[in-house]
Amino acid sequence: MTKRTFGVIGLAVMGENLALNVESRGFPIAVYNRTGAKTEAFMAERAEGKDVKAAYSLEEFVQILERPRKILVMVKAGKPVDAVIQQLKPLLAEGDMIIDGGNSLYDDTERRTQELEATGLGYVGMGVSGGEEGALHGPSLMPGGTEAAYKELEPILTKIAAQAFDGDGPCVTFIGPGGAGHYVKMVHNGIEYGDMQLIAEAYDLMKNCLGLNNQQLHEVFAEWNTTEELNSFLIEITADIFKYIDKETNQPLVELILDSAGQKGTGRWTVVSSLELGVPIPTIYAAVNARVISSYKDEREAAAKVLSGPTPKYDGDVKAWINKIRDALYCSKMCSYAQGMALLAKASDEFNYNLNLAETARIWKGGCIIRAQFLEKIKKAYIDNPKLPNLLLAPEFKQTILDRQDAWREVLTLANSSGIAVPAFSSSLDYFDAYRRDRLPQNLTQAQRDYFGAHTYERTDKPRGEFFHTEWTQTDKESLETGSTD
Ligand code: 6PG
Repeated sequence: MTKRTFGVIGLAVMGENLALNVESRGFPIAVYNRTGAKTEAFMAERAEGKDVKAAYSLEEFVQILERPRKILVMVKAGKPVDAVIQQLKPLLAEGDMIIDGGNSLYDDTERRTQELEATGLGYVGMGVSGGEEGALHGPSLMPGGTEAAYKELEPILTKIAAQAFDGDGPCVTFIGPGGAGHYVKMVHNGIEYGDMQLIAEAYDLMKNCLGLNNQQLHEVFAEWNTTEELNSFLIEITADIFKYIDKETNQPLVELILDSAGQKGTGRWTVVSSLELGVPIPTIYAAVNARVISSYKDEREAAAKVLSGPTPKYDGDVKAWINKIRDALYCSKMCSYAQGMALLAKASDEFNYNLNLAETARIWKGGCIIRAQFLEKIKKAYIDNPKLPNLLLAPEFKQTILDRQDAWREVLTLANSSGIAVPAFSSSLDYFDAYRRDRLPQNLTQAQRDYFGAHTYERTDKPRGEFFHTEWTQTDKESLETGSTD
């Protein structure tokens, strides 16, 4: 029997689909799953007639793999990944490599990379985006680790990845060392949370303020999906969702779904990292918080009985308001991506990832959950200026946000006066209004910190880096008597 070119451990749907994707590109594969029955079922059904060899022990699995072995591990992030690594290590030989395709925390990937590379094994932490469909037909892949390991894998990864639109190549590139791949995937998910929350807020306003029904909502999102600004996978599926009728009740299914959102954690990790690195990502943070507050369903139902707010209302033409909400969505989306890219830039410096932001945008043009026409604009912005301090300063984005900010502000006013929470829209506008102003009220914060804690402050009329303290409670007469100076 020919030795297998590639092996997959973990036959949940993502693992199965990636295995079938690799095999469909002409690579003989081996598969293993801790529960043998799962492997049997896979072999009897989905793998039937394909160039797939099943192994029912890890020893057998490694035996049937050609050297250097390439093993994709698709198990739950966290301890399960460590467990599989510990079982595999004694069975592998120098030059073999393990690829972790789960949503692992980049810190864990750093640790595992160091541990395994010290023993002569390769380790690649690879973000995989696109869900089950993407895994089967073409994901966006974000492999990190060593370039040598990537070069070994490149022939396979470039074949199984999605193709970026406009013939812009396979949605895979070498991301950077250590945990870089999982870091970029984590930020992808943070941006995904932001996109999803912004869409939810546009839906909330159009449904509960403008009174649109599901057919109308479907039409609006379908129309937005034809625009270059908002054309994207998430807008496309949103349009589909509003058409879907529940078979049991013959009602729109979306209106039967409980408004309590889950989260596996990648959005939260993004926020934690942004706080550690000192990069503001308020839109993404608002999206995480929105999911958290939505999960307080019982409390909110009780609160709704006693805490009233204004009745949602609007004046004027519905279509005009829909267009304003579209502009607010796009301006907010630009802010959210500006935040995500700024976080990647800071992490790249901090962790020496040497990230290429244009390439990152390019591989997100297809396969992944945030795939969108808009990413071509981001890619171009970073090709034109790789050191762009903020996406909002790129000529096209700058002009668009300046042209559309009035509509954005009107939508915030509509939401506030209607008692509809739009945390991601608001955080995005606040981010824009703070970032674009050369004087913010934190001079007062510095004065307060120095007043109660003598934390000192810099002055606008002195060189940066010179710090001062004032005895705020002494009057001039007292200072003169004690001779103390500011
Ligand atoms: C992707 C998705 C994928 C997963 C999300 C769900 O890029 O393919 O992001 O990774 O569906 O992580 O995460 P939440 O449960 O946190 O929404």
